Amino acid sequence: MVELGCGRGEYTIGLSENNTAKNFIGVDVKGNRIWTGAKHAIDHHLDHVAFLRTRIDFIDHCFSENEVSEIWITFPDPQPQKNRARKRLTNPDFFLNRYKKILKPGGLIHLKTDNTFFYEYTMDVIKERNLPLLFATNDLYKNCPEGREELTRIKTYYEGLFTAKGEDIKYCCFQLN
Ligand SMILES: C[S@@+](CC[C@H](N)C(=O)[O-])C[C@H]1O[C@@H](n2cnc3c(N)ncnc32)[C@H](O)[C@@H]1O
Repeated sequence: MVELGCGRGEYTIGLSENNTAKNFIGVDVKGNRIWTGAKHAIDHHLDHVAFLRTRIDFIDHCFSENEVSEIWITFPDPQPQKNRARKRLTNPDFFLNRYKKILKPGGLIHLKTDNTFFYEYTMDVIKERNLPLLFATNDLYKNCPEGREELTRIKTYYEGLFTAKGEDIKYCCFQLN
């Protein structure tokens, strides 16, 4: 599992607990943020957890073809300006094409966001590209799918800030093939 724009790595750490059969890797360009998750992993001897400091733009150089089973995108910067569309982490030409190289067939992409623009942008991409959509809600805390308690149990740093302000959290899960 790979968490992109992981910040302090709450999903990387949270999902890794009681699951030593898989590797969990958080990716972010900001070293001071991933330090928190990396220190937790070292202190708790989590040998199946790692953090990678790099731009996500190079993600297809960091993993082999079909190596990754799940990608989590947690509270990405929404980049609403037209001239920054290339920086949106669900941009199909720039980012989804790179994820496709490393994701196993049938692999999952999970997106959690507070941002209506980014959620709707991603839903449009899914529709336009005819991508399999497994689940979507614009109010996760009201419509959490059964058996998926990790979606509300694990809260990222930014998620805490947004929920404190009363923002609804949006979530979707889709595939690329
Ligand atoms: C709004 S923060 C969310 C952090 C964390 N996921 C959370 O929910 O608390 C977005 C994060 O994405 C990272 N990020 C954005 N674009 C990136 C890129 N192209 N490569 C690597 N990291 C990126 C930023 O450094 C930042 O830590």
